[in-house]
Amino acid sequence: MKKKFLMTILSASLALGGMVHMAQAQDKTPVKVGLMLPYSGTYSALTEMIERGFKLYVQEQGGELAGHPMEYFKVDDESDPAKAADNVNKLIKRDKVDLILGTVHSGVAMAMAKAAKESGTLMIVPNAGAVNITGPLCAMNILRTSFNNWQPGYGIGIYAGEKGWKKAVTVTWNYAAGNEMAKGFEDGFAETGGKVSKALRLPFPNVEFQSILTDIASQKPDVVFAFFAGGGAVKFVKDYAAAGLTMPLVGTGFLTDGTLEAQGDSANGVLTGLHYADDLDTETDNAFRKAFEAEYGVAPDVYAVQGYDAAQVFAAGLKAVDGDVSKKDEMEKAMREAVIDSPRGKLTFSPSGDPVQDIYVREVGDGENKVVSVAVEQLVPPVNGCRLQ
Ligand code: PHB
Repeated sequence: MKKKFLMTILSASLALGGMVHMAQAQDKTPVKVGLMLPYSGTYSALTEMIERGFKLYVQEQGGELAGHPMEYFKVDDESDPAKAADNVNKLIKRDKVDLILGTVHSGVAMAMAKAAKESGTLMIVPNAGAVNITGPLCAMNILRTSFNNWQPGYGIGIYAGEKGWKKAVTVTWNYAAGNEMAKGFEDGFAETGGKVSKALRLPFPNVEFQSILTDIASQKPDVVFAFFAGGGAVKFVKDYAAAGLTMPLVGTGFLTDGTLEAQGDSANGVLTGLHYADDLDTETDNAFRKAFEAEYGVAPDVYAVQGYDAAQVFAAGLKAVDGDVSKKDEMEKAMREAVIDSPRGKLTFSPSGDPVQDIYVREVGDGENKVVSVAVEQLVPPVNGCRLQ
């Protein structure tokens, strides 16, 4: 009798436990993802690829991360730093998002990082490489799945010096991304025996390149380094070829990523440094490229990879806390410690929140950015005044 009574209690509590478990598993509260990206302007094509990459990964997980669907909130940041604080506060204060995903432009991203740091809102940067984000603005709740502006510039700088080129001119937009990528190039180039003789700059997002091209010709450098992206990159590479300049053109990979169709033959032979290429031919990248093309009908680019990996890292955080976004510390720790099997290759994070990754040298041919070599393996950017509490 007593035994039977105990058994009844036991099975009742087991059933109850099961129900609680089921109730937990059925908590389908959406996770709120705030997309703050340039939906208009010269960088708008980059936004489309970032968003597609992020959503592809979520879709591959059955439309849910750690059992939760995503609810998206969107803000067009217009690549305008002056509007950035107001824009990001729409996501933080009005929409109360669990994650800010953004942005492309370094100047806008720095204002976002400041707001994210102050509010403690989780922020994943799927592009902007501003050095300060993982420097003075660094915080446990801020991580980037893209690059540090210095990384790809440094990689191609090393390569340019090794080629035996001695004198370079740098040309780019005069804002954090351009200047920091040019600094990376200058550092790498100096290490391998080269020197930058002139830094040519124009305001973002200006694309009137004629006087700059005349300046380049009069400098007679061995090599020209450039950073432009999106619509600006398309125009610069075409104008450079049309001007008949014969010195080799190198750059950070944004100069030729997501732009090759529009650039056509004018991009042939351009050499760039980047954490991705079109012919890596690894199992992970082949699967990613196949799935991306099947879903969107176009080949992915570096921005799509950065968006895809942002979702991968976010998923790692959510899984660690069973989808309970209130457990911020645990989530942030899991994300920082994640080892991501990225289409680009192995991706981990430095203590300041930067990606640690291989930097490839690529050359444009047959409408693709093809790998020439690995400039630097698992490159860790310099630490620049990051103090984490
Ligand atoms: C940046 O502003 O950090 C930036 C923008 C576009 C790119 C790369 C970097 O393609």
